[in-house]
Amino acid sequence: MKPRLLVTGAAGFLGGHLIQQAEKDFTISGTLHRTPATGIPGVTFHVCDLRQPEEVRILLYRVRPEVIIHTACSERGEGLQAIVPAAALLAMQAAERGIRFIHLSTDQVFDGETAPYTENCPTNPINPYGQAKAQAEEVIASVNSKATVVRTSLLYDLRIPDRQTKQLIQTAQTGEPYRLFTDEFRCPVWVENLSEVLLELAGKDYAGILNLGSPERLNRWDLGMKLLTHFGITPTPNIQQGTIEESGLVRPKDLTMDSTKAQRLLSTTFLRIDDAMEHLSS
Ligand SMILES: NC(=O)c1ccc[n+]([C@@H]2O[C@H](COP(=O)([O-])OP(=O)(O)OC[C@H]3O[C@@H](n4cnc5c(N)ncnc54)[C@H](OP(=O)(O)O)[C@@H]3O)[C@@H](O)[C@H]2O)c1
Repeated sequence: MKPRLLVTGAAGFLGGHLIQQAEKDFTISGTLHRTPATGIPGVTFHVCDLRQPEEVRILLYRVRPEVIIHTACSERGEGLQAIVPAAALLAMQAAERGIRFIHLSTDQVFDGETAPYTENCPTNPINPYGQAKAQAEEVIASVNSKATVVRTSLLYDLRIPDRQTKQLIQTAQTGEPYRLFTDEFRCPVWVENLSEVLLELAGKDYAGILNLGSPERLNRWDLGMKLLTHFGITPTPNIQQGTIEESGLVRPKDLTMDSTKAQRLLSTTFLRIDDAMEHLSS
């Protein structure tokens, strides 16, 4: 019998990839909120607002998961307001029912001033999204000592352009001015690579915070150029280098993360973007 896995946010970017990749090893259920499901054979979908205690209780009663990977509630749309209540409810219910709970957090719990960040670095978020995720991490730690909190970095896709890459490609076509920061650093992860890592992690009983970023630090400009080239788009002169400094925006500059702990714990290889592209074409 395959273990029962519940993926929250199954119509989201990461959740959608997870349910596709989990099919071989898990019996999969996924939650939906406003966005309808794209039919994936073998996946059972449940509409659920994860802020609502009764809906969550019924969901867990019906699915009886052995593992929950909680990807729902990002910085987009209504998700931001749901980050803390949904994490609290799920973490608490999972602890009461003995369900393995993996929560998706972000590198944006840091201010970007003292990179590289290990799991032990103190958080200091500087935007509402980072603040909500940092608060969710604290709540989870207080109600579920066995939970895993995964901090990941910027996610990209290599098959279909992700939301930000789509925007960049459109900009190359429309000619609107667009700046990619050279002073903003992340450890971007291919969404399929992260999904594979998370599914391996589902079978481990690691508790606490775990960094899951790629082993490579890239600035936004370099990442954008690599993705444009990958999708066969010639960069246009309207796409220019810029800096956070000049833009006047308040953004974490350097969110380089140290993921050596996860690399030691897991056998899945953490791919740099060039390795991911090679992996895809092989
Ligand atoms: N994408 C990244 O670059 C990145 C980087 C670091 C960390 N993360 C974290 O990784 C996770 C996955 O990110 P993602 O980009 O895949 O997110 P996403 O595409 O925005 O998906 C989030 C999902 O959450 C659902 N949701 C929102 N409010 C809900 C509620 N009240 N009840 C139930 N579901 C709700 C949304 O459903 P509806 O749209 O139907 O409302 C959506 O399907 C998130 O926790 C995010 O914070 C992402």
